[in-house]
Amino acid sequence: MYSVAIDGPAGSGKSTIAKLLAKELNISYVDTGAMYRAIALKAKEENLDTEEKLKHALKSINIDFNEDRIFLDDVDVSDKIRTEEISKLASDISKLDFVREMLVSIQQNIASKKPVVMEGRDIGTVVLKDAKYKFFLTASIDSRVNRRYKQNLERGIKSDIEELREDIVKRDYNDTHRKNSPLVKASDAILIDNSNLNLEDNIELMLKYIRGE
Ligand code: DC
Repeated sequence: MYSVAIDGPAGSGKSTIAKLLAKELNISYVDTGAMYRAIALKAKEENLDTEEKLKHALKSINIDFNEDRIFLDDVDVSDKIRTEEISKLASDISKLDFVREMLVSIQQNIASKKPVVMEGRDIGTVVLKDAKYKFFLTASIDSRVNRRYKQNLERGIKSDIEELREDIVKRDYNDTHRKNSPLVKASDAILIDNSNLNLEDNIELMLKYIRGE
């Protein structure tokens, strides 16, 4: 059994790349950001505006994956968790120790049962410290903003480029400066800056490392 850990900032292409890589390797794909987003959605929908309320609600929360879809308490929330509002809320909620502890343990449990490509912010450093393969993806702010802009357009949302840039910069700051498991490259992770790399070449590069070529 082996795992592939992929970390990187918002807009680095992690999700798309992890999904395609998992397909190529014929193993499961786990999007851990979606789990933080699902909790953020629950907090929003159920007005869980204090840590106490959230802590209590998490005791009975049910987060499940089926193929690429994520289910919160048996409801498919895959599309609902992709708004800018939930992005911000997820970033805030991901600072809470009790949220991280719960999700890390679920993630480790998933990876103990089957080979996975798991992507997030702390996979190579915390969740799967012993992963056989570790990658840290990054790209310039400009390319990340442009990708997010295009992604949103594909979803029918026309965004303001400057607002997107501010959001990404803010989220980078939040994710890299939080006390608990900040976003950082694991010392043994392979760094890939994909600002000027297309999807196919990026995946091919990762496959080469994995195949030891
Ligand atoms: O990858 P994403 O944008 O969907 O993640 C949403 C938020 O969740 C992100 O701002 C940081 C947080 N996150 C985290 O703290 N740890 C992870 N392993 C994955 C995501």
